[in-house]
Amino acid sequence: MAVPPRADIDFANLAFAYRPTDGNVRYTWRDGCWDEGVETESETLPLHIAATCLHYGQAVFEGLKVYRAKDGRVLCFRIDENAKRMSHSAETLMMESPPVALFRDAVFRAARANQRYIPPYGCGASLYVRPLLIGTGARIGVRPADEYMLLVLVTPVGPYFKHGFTPTKLIVEEEFDRAAPLGVGTAKAAGNYAAGMRATMRAREAGYGEALYLDAKEHKFVDELGAANFFGITKDQRYVTPKSPSVLRSITNLSLRTLAPDLGYQVEQRSVPIEELDDFVEAGACGTAAVITPIESITLRGRDIVYLTDGKPGPHCTALYQGLTSIQVGDGEDKYGWTEEIEV
Ligand code: PLP
Ligand code: COI
Repeated sequence: MAVPPRADIDFANLAFAYRPTDGNVRYTWRDGCWDEGVETESETLPLHIAATCLHYGQAVFEGLKVYRAKDGRVLCFRIDENAKRMSHSAETLMMESPPVALFRDAVFRAARANQRYIPPYGCGASLYVRPLLIGTGARIGVRPADEYMLLVLVTPVGPYFKHGFTPTKLIVEEEFDRAAPLGVGTAKAAGNYAAGMRATMRAREAGYGEALYLDAKEHKFVDELGAANFFGITKDQRYVTPKSPSVLRSITNLSLRTLAPDLGYQVEQRSVPIEELDDFVEAGACGTAAVITPIESITLRGRDIVYLTDGKPGPHCTALYQGLTSIQVGDGEDKYGWTEEIEV
């Protein structure tokens, strides 16, 4: 029997911010195997002062959302893709990767333990699930840890960009790159986010929602945003999204590339030269936290490329948003089998 959402939380007006819940789950890899994991109410971690996550950046994470459907079912979206991506991130940073089954159990366990925080259907909020893998073993020489911890925390969230599904302005801050072509940009490595903070903060201070990055090698192609992938729509109904060795393989983007043809778009995943930004009739940011955020304009080299002038999402982003979110919350037909019910 599902536990109802807490009555004293204003779920419809949540920001994308951490809020304490009933607990988190933690699994440890030691002596070559994962333990059974524990559930705890503690919001802090006892860590060795020489843990590799602290000194050498052995920290990767995931992000996925859990929704309450109209009929009361609790649904998660494409969890196996998150599990696989965590394995890719772990391999990239030479960390021990949790098997898919363990990743799934950890997420389900955390969601179950925090049912009171799964927002009600239709309020626009969701339970954000944050699996985190860290090197906990002590090293002072630079080499992989011999102990790891997978922990899963959850927190109810509203939209990542202010006001949710409304247009956001971006700026290309060319003094900063996010990830190098032969670096770790395809991993969801904690350090990539620290690397992006200067650009994001500078963008926010100047009144933009987020920074847009170009490829680090030549600054000729579009890469992605600090916390979302990029796509553009052409006037002849093409969904164009960057193929780059330094962008995170977004599961939202992967899903949109599958849905877009159903909605009448031709999909192109390829290098996107910055000159092409002028050709798009609409553009958007996509990701778990960002969902689909329509891009109002992009400021590049002192010039504004404007997509939307009335402060409202355009028809293309709206169609993609509705197609995606209706599946995520269990309203639309899930013909690709992307949602999974969590037994609560
Ligand atoms: N790119 C970056 C850098 C991100 O942090 C995220 C967020 O997860 C995404 C893209 C979108 O990925 P996904 O759709 O899997 O959430
Ligand atoms: C997500 O969309 O899940 C992310 O990880 C973005 C995050 C950095 C807020």
